[in-house]
Amino acid sequence: MIANVGDLRAKLRAVLGAEGLLTEAADVAPYLTDHRRLYQGAAFAVARPLDVSEVSRVLALCDAHRVAVVPHGGNTSYCGGATPDETGDQLVVAMSRMKRIRGVDVANDSLIAEAGCTLAQVQAAAARAERLFPLSLGSEGSCQLGGNLSTNAGGTNVMRYGMARDLVLGLEVVLADGRVLDVLSALRKDNTGYDVKSLFLGAEGTLGVITAASVKLFPMVRARATAFVAVAGVGAAVALLTRMRGASSDRVSSFELIPRAALELTLRHIAGTTDPLGTAYPWYVLCELSGSGFTDALDALLEESLAAALAEGAILDATIAASGREREALWKIRACIPEAQRREGAGVKHDIALPVGKLAEFMQRAGPWVATHVPEGILIAYGHVGDGNLHFNISAKDAQAGAALLARMESVRRAIHDLVNEFGGSFSAEHGIGQLKVGELERYTSPVELSVMRAVKQALDPNNIMNPGKVLR
Ligand code: MLT
Ligand code: ZN
Repeated sequence: MIANVGDLRAKLRAVLGAEGLLTEAADVAPYLTDHRRLYQGAAFAVARPLDVSEVSRVLALCDAHRVAVVPHGGNTSYCGGATPDETGDQLVVAMSRMKRIRGVDVANDSLIAEAGCTLAQVQAAAARAERLFPLSLGSEGSCQLGGNLSTNAGGTNVMRYGMARDLVLGLEVVLADGRVLDVLSALRKDNTGYDVKSLFLGAEGTLGVITAASVKLFPMVRARATAFVAVAGVGAAVALLTRMRGASSDRVSSFELIPRAALELTLRHIAGTTDPLGTAYPWYVLCELSGSGFTDALDALLEESLAAALAEGAILDATIAASGREREALWKIRACIPEAQRREGAGVKHDIALPVGKLAEFMQRAGPWVATHVPEGILIAYGHVGDGNLHFNISAKDAQAGAALLARMESVRRAIHDLVNEFGGSFSAEHGIGQLKVGELERYTSPVELSVMRAVKQALDPNNIMNPGKVLR
């Protein structure tokens, strides 16, 4: 229990004003549960700062009182990274009121946005300047830039533009003791010692609170060609990726794997979706080429390449979107897989990454393992093949099977992650660690790397007030 919580609330209110501090149970409640409803926490208040100086004063106060702080963005984390623990002794710091676009620099192809901007808001600000901010995720309407950077989010454009980390030029961060680290540079070249900002990207608020970022912009996408391609297996999908990259002068910007089972789930649960190819095939790829030229003839290029692949038996079938509406329909199938899985009922998620060249062999081992050892589940392995990232999810066959699956979720997770490790892969590709995967981080990270992480944590947050229990414990 915090000694004198009333006194601390009064001090916080003096910094934040009445609107900036929520203390009523009904107001605090939405901040206490994660998006997947895996965790239910408690908090003595929610701070809603308006600017960096308020964040600074809040953290200085919390550090002095040894009170833990849980930074909170759009609450779309899959790993419980933004949910407080159950003690009620933690303060949630919600960034949603810090949502200014501080500036767009067209000549430098960069933009400065505050952490509470939604991803969609950042994309729109770039688009108004005829530029592209390429980070793109299913939750982009509600996830926030600060959370995207803190978890080093990925999404469907990583192949071409990289992860969130790769899009950052500079950061403004409030450290645990309230000092403001201003490395909000927009420079493209800046070799001045350690890359300090990179520590906070993927740190999930355990080292400080990101309050603003300077991010890279790119030319607008003006031409797109999108195909839904049937392939025999994961090996054929990977081979097609190599082929399409070569044939298109590397203009493949998305390459998403979809198993038949995922398509069926989507058709069953999501209104307005239809099977793009008449016949059922075991696997599909959603492949998109994009370019910034008005006259890029990408449709013709895609059609030619796929026709050649079909003639050689490298693919089984394909359809190319003939209009923006058709393109949206194809993307809807891909984007709605998580929602379709949620509606189907209980399931287990694994966000894994493997070397792209080992995806097929991994699936040859992992697929039969699931069929034999998890008979109550259906494997829904889909995702970002171009990045070697699979969402290796298992949905329960029915409600009764759901209880059985959830009961042995831990042992299933262990087996899958051990296999991923054997293949030189990662148990956390793009969803972060949060509180869900702290044990996995300890298991699969080398003692030397873990000790470096702990040393950084100790140096920057000696009182362990920054999102304790997340990433490290
Ligand atoms: C996706 O790519 O759809 C998400 O990252 C994975 C998920 O929601 O399971
Ligand atoms: Zn994903």
